Amino acid sequence: MYNSRITGLGKYLPETVVTNDDLSKMMDTNDAWIQERTGIKERRWIKQGSDDTSAIMGAKASEIAIERAGIDKDDIDFIVFATMTPDYYFPGCGVQIQDLLGLKNVGAIDIRNQCSGFIYALSVADQFIKTGMYKNVLVVGAEYHSNGLDKSTRGRGVTVIFGDGAGACIVSREEDNSKGILSTHLHSEGKYADKLIVEAPSIRHWVPEIMEAGEDDLSYFPHMDGTFVFKHAVVRFSEVIMEGLMKNGLQKDDIDMLIPHQANLRIAQFIQKKFGLSDDQVFNNIMKYGNTTAASVIIALTEAWEEGKVKEGDNVVLAAFGSGFTWGSAIIKW
Ligand code: ACO
Repeated sequence: MYNSRITGLGKYLPETVVTNDDLSKMMDTNDAWIQERTGIKERRWIKQGSDDTSAIMGAKASEIAIERAGIDKDDIDFIVFATMTPDYYFPGCGVQIQDLLGLKNVGAIDIRNQCSGFIYALSVADQFIKTGMYKNVLVVGAEYHSNGLDKSTRGRGVTVIFGDGAGACIVSREEDNSKGILSTHLHSEGKYADKLIVEAPSIRHWVPEIMEAGEDDLSYFPHMDGTFVFKHAVVRFSEVIMEGLMKNGLQKDDIDMLIPHQANLRIAQFIQKKFGLSDDQVFNNIMKYGNTTAASVIIALTEAWEEGKVKEGDNVVLAAFGSGFTWGSAIIKW
């Protein structure tokens, strides 16, 4: 059996920086509230009129990952694209990547698992490599939230959190079984779907109904029971990290770098304390980018690697929790 290893990483963030003060001009919020509750100072939002979309940002991040992996585009055997903000209702963004990058007619799938999307996508790539079916899989996480948020005071509990961006990696066959992706762990609990949801447009609630209801219908904006999500997040993050460590005979002390989904700095700090990790052992960039959902873990991993904080031989732990509920972890020997 082969192992799989991340051989190239890339990220793309839109240029436009939106600060908390910028948001306070759109809605009744303020820098102190946002920083205290979430840790976010600013986020990137795609500028109106820009060509960027989830697929296009994903393609830009992919170009960098492919170059850093030192492979040719023709070497890519499969595409896995994670997003909750696809360019179209259908088809998914994976097929757009095939076209945008000019790849061969390889298979492409979309993963719809919100904040856990990248971990799920990485796991899918890992299985395809470990079975020997593919040698190089392109994994992308990208989100274009800003066009779908309620930018009035009504939406402030959600809108201040989300940012746009994309990350990508190449997952390649590795002959040395002692390094690479050691294991991934995936979970779901669908009974809490309505705690963090965008209900429409959907087949249950299609466009004419929304238009008829007019301003009373907010079903196409994200709805989140933040406190409820927060309480479940801290429990599930801890569980799924422990599950991954135990599976590989590792202890808390063996973690060299934990990269949690960037949902809220307070969640990351809670996990850091629970696992007794130092500031150097946990990577956070939510302060600059907000919550970029399926893109957050791969953007953070790329940035940590670019800053030299992920080194050969390190035990790297990725973990995420989000809408669904879904959660997951990946244990990597870098
Ligand atoms: N600015 C100012 N005041 C605000 C804002 C804002 N942006 N948003 C809400 N408030 C007010 C509320 O109206 C409320 O006022 P009230 O007490 O008068 O009613 C007060 O602030 C407190 O609101 P809460 O929602 O209780 O604040 P909380 O401390 O829970 O923080 C937050 C909210 C930041 C959303 C937090 O609950 C959280 O981070 N939850 C988890 C989010 C998460 O992990 N999501 C999963 C990933 S996302 C995904 O999967 C797509």
